Amino acid sequence: MDMNRGRIKRILVSEKEIQEKISAVAKQISEEYEGKPLLLVSVLKGAFIFMADFCRALTVPCELAFMCASSYYNGTVSSGNVKITLDIYQDLSKYHVIIVEDILDTGRTLSLVVKNLKERNPLSLKVITLLDKPSRRLVDFEADISLFTIPDYFAVGYGLDCNEQFRNLPYVAEYEE
Ligand code: IMP
Ligand code: MG
Repeated sequence: MDMNRGRIKRILVSEKEIQEKISAVAKQISEEYEGKPLLLVSVLKGAFIFMADFCRALTVPCELAFMCASSYYNGTVSSGNVKITLDIYQDLSKYHVIIVEDILDTGRTLSLVVKNLKERNPLSLKVITLLDKPSRRLVDFEADISLFTIPDYFAVGYGLDCNEQFRNLPYVAEYEE
């Protein structure tokens, strides 16, 4: 693929593990949201692949929306400064909302996004994250559902990047810094 592939240290979560867990969670969510107006909100860019697989595993109707929040400005170092750079336009008071996120790290991004969306009075709000790095948490925030808990490694693949590289890997890998 690309020259940087040599910096992939090892696979943390395989393609098979990801797909199996998504099926199980999507089954649970499909039962829970049967007959309810459901809006999946994904935080770009990292969650776009998880969003695509998750929404296709659901058996209930849903609408999709995408927002951008940026916190990482350079490589693997967080700026600590979270901004919503692209917003959604739906009237959230008409929807049960599920935020679909790639990774919960310090918690800054999700706590800001959740606070922001709650102010728009959704019928309900749930947070599902593909990955969780609890040891890195700086703000008091937990997801309703985390598919995989990983140690404090910098993860790439399955949507996650390092300087915009590696998003297209079908698995989650540890990046050698
Ligand atoms: P938080 O605000 O620190 O929780 O970080 C959330 C965002 O930082 C994620 O949505 C990712 O875009 C990025 N991020 C955090 N940890 C990693 C990682 O291990 N690999 C790639 N991106 C990460
Ligand atoms: Mg993200």
